[in-house]
Amino acid sequence: MRLILDTANLKDIEYFNTHYPIEGVTTNPTILSKEGGDVVALLKNIRAIIGEDKELHVQVTETQYEKILMEARAIVGLLGKNTFVKIPATDAGIRATKTLAAEGMGITVTAVLSPAQAMIASLAGASYVAPYVSRLENLCDDGVGCVAAIAEVFAYAGTKTQILAASFKTVKEVLDVATVGCHAATVGSDVMKKMLAHSTTDTSIAGFRKDWERAFGRNTLLELIQVDAR
Ligand code: G3P
Repeated sequence: MRLILDTANLKDIEYFNTHYPIEGVTTNPTILSKEGGDVVALLKNIRAIIGEDKELHVQVTETQYEKILMEARAIVGLLGKNTFVKIPATDAGIRATKTLAAEGMGITVTAVLSPAQAMIASLAGASYVAPYVSRLENLCDDGVGCVAAIAEVFAYAGTKTQILAASFKTVKEVLDVATVGCHAATVGSDVMKKMLAHSTTDTSIAGFRKDWERAFGRNTLLELIQVDAR
């Protein structure tokens, strides 16, 4: 399962794009609203940081069919290749998905809360569907089960649409969808950081350093190799 970063914070994008194996960035109107300011400049800056080869998912704000088409084309015009237009799973959104996907545009049908919505989105030609895992779990519903059911429907139909699971509050949710056939997960900065951090990793590293220094002093192995090569 591939990992994408779910934020519009430039510092976070810069950090995780440098350190973590992320394959792109997803945004939505709420995520963009947290940064504020010039949103067009913000989106261009995100594209500049991740480069043209990584995915950038940007959601439409228009709700009427014709306007969604105009906005989607404007978004791709602004941000170039590997830009996916997120369109909510509404009647107008699915109609727009049919039109834009037929033109070859990458569409991520978003705010997906059921396998039936995912099936409609897939048949409309969406490149991705984005089921909201935590939002389902918060309602005592089965977010991971929803992703598993979508994966089963897609596998049975042999569809090319991929699952880009979203809305994660815990590392466990991310790991759980990774084992039920999910293609990609978009994860916020906090959960992404928690995926790698572990206190026993830190204490293990501290122990290695202590044992090394006791035996070999403060020189690193690199420094000792360089001394040997002289
Ligand atoms: O990308 C949108 C999705 O991740 C929503 O997340 O945390 O607002 O439920 P959240």
